[in-house]
Amino acid sequence: MSDTYDIIIIGGGPGGYNCAIRAGQLGLKVACVETRKTLGGTCLNVGCIPSKALLHSTEMLETAQQDFEGMGLTGEVGFDLKKMMAAKEKTVEGLTSGIEYLFNKNKVEHITGFGKIVDATTVDVDGKTLKTKNIVIATGSEVATLPGVDINETTIVSSTGALELSKVPGKLLVIGGGVIGLELGSVWRRLGSEVTVVEYLDHIMPGMDNEVQKQALRIFKKQKVKFELSRKVTGVTKSKGGLKVATEASAGGKPKDIDADVVLVCIGRRPFTNNLGLDAAGVKTDKRGFIETDHYKTSVPGIWAVGDCTHGPMLAHKAEDEGVAAAELIAGKAGHVNYDVIPGVVYTAPEIASVGKTEEELKEAGIPYKKGKFPFTANSRARANHQTDGFVKILAHAETDEILGGHIIGANAGDLIAELCVAMEFRASSEDVARTCHAHPTITEAVRQAAMDVEGWTMQM
Ligand code: FAD
Ligand code: NAI
Repeated sequence: MSDTYDIIIIGGGPGGYNCAIRAGQLGLKVACVETRKTLGGTCLNVGCIPSKALLHSTEMLETAQQDFEGMGLTGEVGFDLKKMMAAKEKTVEGLTSGIEYLFNKNKVEHITGFGKIVDATTVDVDGKTLKTKNIVIATGSEVATLPGVDINETTIVSSTGALELSKVPGKLLVIGGGVIGLELGSVWRRLGSEVTVVEYLDHIMPGMDNEVQKQALRIFKKQKVKFELSRKVTGVTKSKGGLKVATEASAGGKPKDIDADVVLVCIGRRPFTNNLGLDAAGVKTDKRGFIETDHYKTSVPGIWAVGDCTHGPMLAHKAEDEGVAAAELIAGKAGHVNYDVIPGVVYTAPEIASVGKTEEELKEAGIPYKKGKFPFTANSRARANHQTDGFVKILAHAETDEILGGHIIGANAGDLIAELCVAMEFRASSEDVARTCHAHPTITEAVRQAAMDVEGWTMQM
């Protein structure tokens, strides 16, 4: 026995590193095992951060190209893809080394290697045996694949390859009209690609509020993204000039081939627990491979799981909150995550953000509700900024007025949604938000006006 820890965490992504840091703060002896050279997991290395870096640069480019003239600004703006990629890498490096710093500061031992569970108190890391009182599995997720579409990360790419293409594809075909397809589709469209999204369902962004889905589709079409809805890809083959993508109607029949230079596969992600030793240790998973948990406890006492490898939205902030809660529970404290208040944001332009129940979910559950809506065209700051696309929608209980859901499509929606998250966490009514003074002129006033509209007393023009 070389070491005995209070917790060994397997995986150094948002679930794992937040769990490790919190455990260190609580005085536990903790190690975090990660196979990658750098900490931060999918999110920092090949997910949230590099995608947002490219989204930001390309949104600035498009703003300069399309909006500057209308604001009386002159000058031409172009781009250098190599430098743009280098800037993205620099951001990633800064943040991954920041986690290393936080590990040192909070006395977390960082072990590089592949962790395998031997039993509830033993982890093997590349042949080295480590003993521990608790194991936290935070091994995350990997891209879901499609038969007949073999990812090579150069011409047929997952999000990882799409974040580091060396040249702008003439034609980019995106399989899946979900979050990755729309975000990375936006990046390459802004840089000049002709983007076609093939989506199995008859709508994009499944799970979002219907009104938001429809408005988003209209806006993306206006941005010249092509959509092939209710259609599936059956295979991709090499053609003379590039790739031939075979598709057919989701219901079967109606075949259609589409030419592409690069194909991006983004039809969802699946839990990553390969070679982790789950079966031998007796850790139960569901049919799709997600680890079954009850308050982060797996079926084996002493083994816990958080983040993408367990149930719930595959989001960094959900993984983070679970990691912290698990560390607190292991330390004998009250760890908790409110699953009714986990926001989801799509970082396109405009941004799309949502928290709580959609209108469709409330109808299905038979919950009586009132709705308030406010368009950004009527918000003075949005008009001054030339960012008038979209609206704020608030859903509140018909009798108690408690806010049950918030849905925003518009500039800075990802930041605006936080106000509704706080309101919902405190179980505020729509009137509470409506009567809270908001600075003028800000786009946050659109949230207040939507709350006022729940009672029908919206005031702005
Ligand atoms: P991960 O971040 O996947 O980390 C798991 C880590 O465990 C990995 O580093 C892996 O190498 C390591 N590991 C696995 N098995 C072992 C083992 N046996 N031994 C040692 N190490 C192991 N979410 C958001 O909230 N906002 C966003 O903007 C966003 N953008 C995204 C963009 C893209 C392109 C992608 C792909 C994802 C995005 N996500 C976003 C999702 C987000 O990245 C994940 O929800 C989040 O990273 C999950 O955290 P995690 O800790 O559960 O797993
Ligand atoms: P997704 O679940 O968001 O979207 C997948 C889409 O593909 C769905 O619309 C689905 O109907 C469609 N689809 C499935 N099979 C198909 C097929 N055979 N043919 C055509 N369409 C098909 O998954 P995505 O975009 O891959 O993202 C994976 C995860 O990463 C998501 O769970 C998301 O939460 C997370 N993520 C989060 C981001 C954010 O928070 N901004 C950004 C990027 C990823």
